[in-house]
Amino acid sequence: MLERLERLKLNALKELKAVTGIKELDLWRVHYLGKKSELNSILRGLAALPVEERKAIGARANRIKADLEGGLGQKESVLREAQLMGAAEERRLDISLPGRPYPLGHLHPITQTLAEVCDIFVSLGFGVVEGTEVEWNYYNFEALNIPEEHPARDSMSTSWVDFEAEGGGRTMLLRTHTTSLTARAIEFRRPPIRLVEPGKVYRYEASDATHTPMFHQIDGIAVDENITMADLKGTLYEFARRFFGEERKVRFRCDYFPFVEPGVEMAIECSVCRGAGCRLCSNTGWIEILGAGMAHPQVLERGGIDPEVYSGFAFGMGVDRLPMLRHGIDDIRLFYNNDLRFLSQF
Ligand code: DAH
Repeated sequence: MLERLERLKLNALKELKAVTGIKELDLWRVHYLGKKSELNSILRGLAALPVEERKAIGARANRIKADLEGGLGQKESVLREAQLMGAAEERRLDISLPGRPYPLGHLHPITQTLAEVCDIFVSLGFGVVEGTEVEWNYYNFEALNIPEEHPARDSMSTSWVDFEAEGGGRTMLLRTHTTSLTARAIEFRRPPIRLVEPGKVYRYEASDATHTPMFHQIDGIAVDENITMADLKGTLYEFARRFFGEERKVRFRCDYFPFVEPGVEMAIECSVCRGAGCRLCSNTGWIEILGAGMAHPQVLERGGIDPEVYSGFAFGMGVDRLPMLRHGIDDIRLFYNNDLRFLSQF
């Protein structure tokens, strides 16, 4: 019996040594120390043995049991320690890995264009002013020589804001052009005036490839003594040269706008066909960029500026078309659909 116990102990310790995991250790515990283990059945059978034998075998069996339990405890702490270290190793921070890049946003292409155009005029000595999108009928139309019955109103389908000012019949609207800011500059400022006026404008129209009910314009106004058509042409020519490039040809032609006299339209050589004629320029070779002219004496006078002493030039351009022309974009709605696959290219 003693021999059997010795063998049991040797086997148990040998196997314990080979154990490498917590689960395996538990199996070992059940096998050697569990209720149904050989050792346990020997201990349970002690009562049936004669006294002398019971003493010797009992003492030995208990010592072996204590040894095995001690070994188990030791092994367990070794394995738990290793497990902890392993987990820590797995989660170790590798500071040599590159960081996760945060996606960087940028300004909308129209906003970029507004800033670029304004910068050019700022470098030519102009200031920048903005105004409200809800505007009086007066500054959008009346002050600019566009009375109620004027045909120019038809071309600017207006979104009216149903609001009557107290005591007056001046209805409000969503401004149809930033020229309303030119009317305000003439009324509220005194010469010398040199301003550009960027902003959103609204026309009550359905969207298509070249129209949206909201788009952007930049107007400009310069008023001083002795301002002539040469100043207008020189300023706008310089703008075109800087924005579209040195070689691009520029053309001025007569046009009509109620608030200027004379009025002109400026066109640049078509960016696609370079003057030969194509679909983009409707086979004319030219693309109209802006309207301009010499400030109408009546408009100056209405704003309290003496047209006998002062003269001025004004201009206004659509901004959304500029990046379209530059990048060959054929649908204005792309700017307003908020599809980052498109917008992130600019
Ligand atoms: N406001 C005009 C439009 O929206 C453009 C324009 C033409 C503005 C001539 C001006 C100008 O300041 O002088 O069509």
